[in-house]
Amino acid sequence: MKDTDADWAMLGEGEPFFGVLSDPRFLRANITPAALEEFWQTGRNEMHGYRQLIQTHFGDFSDASALDFGCGVGRLTRAMGEMCRQATGLDISPGMLVEARRHAPANVNYVSELGDETFDWLNSIIVFQHIPPQRGYRLLDDLLARVNPGGALSLHVTLFKDESFLTHLWPTLRRGQWDGDRFVSFDHDQGDVGGMEMYDYDMSRIIEMTSRHGFHNLIIQHTNHGGCHGVIMFGRKGR
Ligand SMILES: C[S@@+](CC[C@H](N)C(=O)[O-])C[C@H]1O[C@@H](n2cnc3c(N)ncnc32)[C@H](O)[C@@H]1O
Repeated sequence: MKDTDADWAMLGEGEPFFGVLSDPRFLRANITPAALEEFWQTGRNEMHGYRQLIQTHFGDFSDASALDFGCGVGRLTRAMGEMCRQATGLDISPGMLVEARRHAPANVNYVSELGDETFDWLNSIIVFQHIPPQRGYRLLDDLLARVNPGGALSLHVTLFKDESFLTHLWPTLRRGQWDGDRFVSFDHDQGDVGGMEMYDYDMSRIIEMTSRHGFHNLIIQHTNHGGCHGVIMFGRKGR
């Protein structure tokens, strides 16, 4: 299994903001106070949208404690801190955490590992796509167990890639899925490709897991980031 933690340690050290949102304006050499404010604003916009969606479908949870798994520099965690009593950001990249702590409000803390804490809201956006699924499924199982009864979920996973992402690797390929072990072409069998660090998950396994952990009612939003298709799943654990 590829050591993706080493990739993120390097990215967090060198280009923490660009590592989160790959826009040249967020490179260390280019970032201005205005661009930084824009960066934080993307987080507020996203989290307000997610909270709105969860509240509309599953009811209020505004005084919750929240966990942002794969928090990066805290783009989303800070926004969660504005909505919740307390927010925790968890990341394996030391450089990301240094930057996150530099901008941390009083009710937001950043950690590299958890004890036995549980939470009222689990959020993870554009993170599992970078973790080999064999490891990702285990991590997700643990995280879902940490959601308190009645707690909320906003979880992004990637599922497949289309030709706009793949054709530079394999000119005849139109759509496929990379789970870290095997590349499966949806059009015809092309064998293994390998070398890509944008992983795809199996939705059946994810739903089996969310269901086993008590999320019986989910809302699913389709995402497409440059040809990497996935979903954000919103739900609330049964009481
Ligand atoms: C693209 S960034 C997204 C950051 C944040 N979720 C956001 O949307 O602003 C992906 C983050 O996931 C973190 N990450 C990758 N693998 C991880 C793991 N196994 N455990 C925790 N964090 C991880 C990386 O260090 C990086 O900060």
